[in-house]
Amino acid sequence: MRALFLLSGENIPLASMEIRQLLAPENFFTTGNLALGKIPRGRAGLWRRLAFTKSAYELLFFCSRENILRAVRDYCWNDICHGSFCVRAACASGGSPESGERELAKEIWQKVKNPNVDLQNPSLLIQFFFLGKRVYCGRLLWKNEERFSERNPSARPAPHPTSLQPKLARALVNLSGCISGTLTDPFCGSGGILIEAGLMGIPVHGSDLYQEMAQRAIKNLAHYRIKDFTVKQLDANTLRPPLGYIACDVPYGQNASLWALQDGKPCKAIRGTGKNNIPALQGFYRSFLRNLKKHLAHQAAVIFPHYAQGEALVTEAGFAVVGMCTQFIHSTLTREIVVFRQQKNGASGLRTKKAGSLRHTAGYSSPRTKGNRS
Ligand SMILES: C[S@@+](CC[C@H](N)C(=O)[O-])C[C@H]1O[C@@H](n2cnc3c(N)ncnc32)[C@H](O)[C@@H]1O
Repeated sequence: MRALFLLSGENIPLASMEIRQLLAPENFFTTGNLALGKIPRGRAGLWRRLAFTKSAYELLFFCSRENILRAVRDYCWNDICHGSFCVRAACASGGSPESGERELAKEIWQKVKNPNVDLQNPSLLIQFFFLGKRVYCGRLLWKNEERFSERNPSARPAPHPTSLQPKLARALVNLSGCISGTLTDPFCGSGGILIEAGLMGIPVHGSDLYQEMAQRAIKNLAHYRIKDFTVKQLDANTLRPPLGYIACDVPYGQNASLWALQDGKPCKAIRGTGKNNIPALQGFYRSFLRNLKKHLAHQAAVIFPHYAQGEALVTEAGFAVVGMCTQFIHSTLTREIVVFRQQKNGASGLRTKKAGSLRHTAGYSSPRTKGNRS
């Protein structure tokens, strides 16, 4: 199915990477805050999991702005309009489009056999997005109504300031590519990533070397009535299989300490802040990645602080990087989100930039439309 996504504007590269990893679209590209691609049958419906997408549509057609009324007249609305309908038109980048909803709705009304408009609860919502010189038309499939803020770390029974915001935690689970199978977070902290994965019905394994953190995670998972989980005290550098999918936010050595076992007890692996001791920080991540290289079965999505140059470390460890993007936090911290998997037969990884350059430029054509749409 050809799909159209309205991305939430705060981080387009992250939103786009999330769609790529979760939905494996073909001929995928983004334009402004819209993304388009063909979704394989087996992935349809998974868009309900997306965190950085506002809504998903089946793409009906697209055309140039000047041809919009003609394209609407040419479309076979009776094929898709069987009950009530409603038309919405917006500039994808904000503002109001020159062809208004009423004008577009009037054209559709004239084409439908038994027209019935319902603005509150239509069985079909037809959306027009005006963007640059083009207009994209889709039927609404899903609207993101997830209330991430209600699950903010501070709302949990065992909160901790190092926990990821639920929206990013959910995106990280999606970036891991975990659709079926189990997800492991080896630096689980108070459970931010485990909670989002658990709420999506994914069985989760969490571990943290700091026992108090592992206990917080257990309390928080129980609070959200998540049942299919294990959480234990474990050094991430000694993880063992099964390791299907990994999603984690490594400790940066600032608010979250790096722990190492000394005489069987967790001790701080770095004194002071990690940012001031980058070689030690990188040494810790290298050791984690080296161990992961031996056991990772499918894919991992890992957040590093920018100053550790995580992508380079991942490549150095022998993984294939399949995506990378950043999230600015404040002037001294940007998160580097790296998605990687084992190399296939020693082949080099598909870098996002390269994959992005496979931008599909041939226009879509709709079997339900006649006439010129571009
Ligand atoms: C950034 S926090 C993780 C936050 C978590 N993702 C969340 O959303 O709640 C990093 C965690 O790594 C843990 N940690 C540090 N060194 C570790 C090690 N060697 N093995 C396992 N966990 C470790 C810290 O105790 C801390 O809880």
